[in-house]
Formats: sequence, structure tokens, C-alpha cells
Amino acid sequence: MNTFIYPGTFDPPTMGHLDIARRAAALCRNLYVVVLPNASKQACFSVEERVKMLQTCFEDLPNCTVDHYNGLLVDYVRLKQASAVVRGIRSESDLRYEQDMATANRLLYRDFEMLILLSRPDLAFTSSSIVREVGSFGGDISAMVPPAIVDFVSRRLKSRHQEDKLHE
Ligand code: COA
Repeated sequence: MNTFIYPGTFDPPTMGHLDIARRAAALCRNLYVVVLPNASKQACFSVEERVKMLQTCFEDLPNCTVDHYNGLLVDYVRLKQASAVVRGIRSESDLRYEQDMATANRLLYRDFEMLILLSRPDLAFTSSSIVREVGSFGGDISAMVPPAIVDFVSRRLKSRHQEDKLHE
């Protein structure tokens, strides 16, 4: 029973993320859920907002710590002396993406290890971008986002959408 890391953009966290994190926490002594930068994505929620949302989702999990790190995943893994990084996959395309990331990370850090958990089939359709799109048009996101953060995410997406329209 060791330290695992569950990294992601979490923009915003979804029920799928929640499920993977809770299952991972049951398999290790300490789980770090960490918000990291993804160079190919422009985040909608600030790092502070994402950390706060994750803390709210996991406040009942005593072995889970929410963190953020502005650097490489492998450096965070070294810093925490973690034995594995956990990722969830929903489909074949997720698997290919994770394989590429794991290969690159292993080139950077020889001891890099990754644990893949399969998403629950009923959550396999969920993604942060679907949440952002549905929420920004005022749609019901309650089946996709953890109950503890639904109101915050809905309000935040609607107000951002209105701000964007003002600047059009
Ligand atoms: N259920 C539901 N959705 C899931 C999911 C699950 N179990 N697992 C992933 N997703 C979705 C997310 O909702 C998100 O959807 P979107 O693309 O529509 O927004 C997408 O899959 C992936 O997002 P997420 O899991 O939040 O993170 P990511 O893939 O953007 O994370 C990092 C990538 C942060 C781990 C990676 O960029 C990283 O390591 N960055 C640090 C810098 C670094 O080391 N770079 C070198 C990497 S080789």
C-alpha cells in the first residue's frame, strides 16, 4: 500500500474523475489528486477554483490530498516518492493517449509506473468539455458533475458564457 498520484486538468472535475479517484484511494495508503497544466488546453476554471472543487469532492476521504503543481508530472511523482500514477480510461482512444503519455513519461523518469482503471460504463460518455458546453447553455449537468459542486459549476459556466457574449 503506497502513494499514488491521480493527475489531471479537471476543468471541471466530473463524476468520472470522482469515480476513478475514489477507487484509486481504496487501493493505496495516500492518494494525491493533483491539478497540472496541460499545454494543449486553455482552462476555463482557474487552478484555485479547480483545487477548491476537488477539495469539496474529497473532503470525506481521509487518505486523499488535493494539490496543484506547475511543472512536469514526473517531477511531482519524484517529489512525492509515489509508486504509481493512476489514470482512468473510457475508450480505445483514451488508451492510445495514455500509452503515448506513459511512454514519454518513462523516457523522462525510468521508474515511472502507471495504473489504468477502466471507467464505469455509465460514466464513459462524460467529459469536462461536454460539461462546459452543456453548462454554458444552461443545460442540466447534474448527472455529469459531483453533487457537491453542481451549483458552483453551473453558475460559473453560465456567467462566463454571458461575459463571452458581451465581448462578441
Ligand atoms: N471520466 C470522465 N472523463 C474523463 C475521465 C474519466 N474517468 N478521464 C478523463 N476524462 C476526460 C476529462 O473529462 C477530459 O475531458 P476534455 O478533454 O473533454 O476536457 C479529458 O478526459 C482528459 O482530462 P483530464 O483527465 O482532466 O486531464 P488531462 O488528460 O488533460 O491531463 C495531464 C493531462 C495534466 C496529466 C498531462 O497534461 C500532464 O502530465 N501535464 C503535466 C506536464 C507534463 O508532465 N507534460 C508531459 C506529459 S508526457
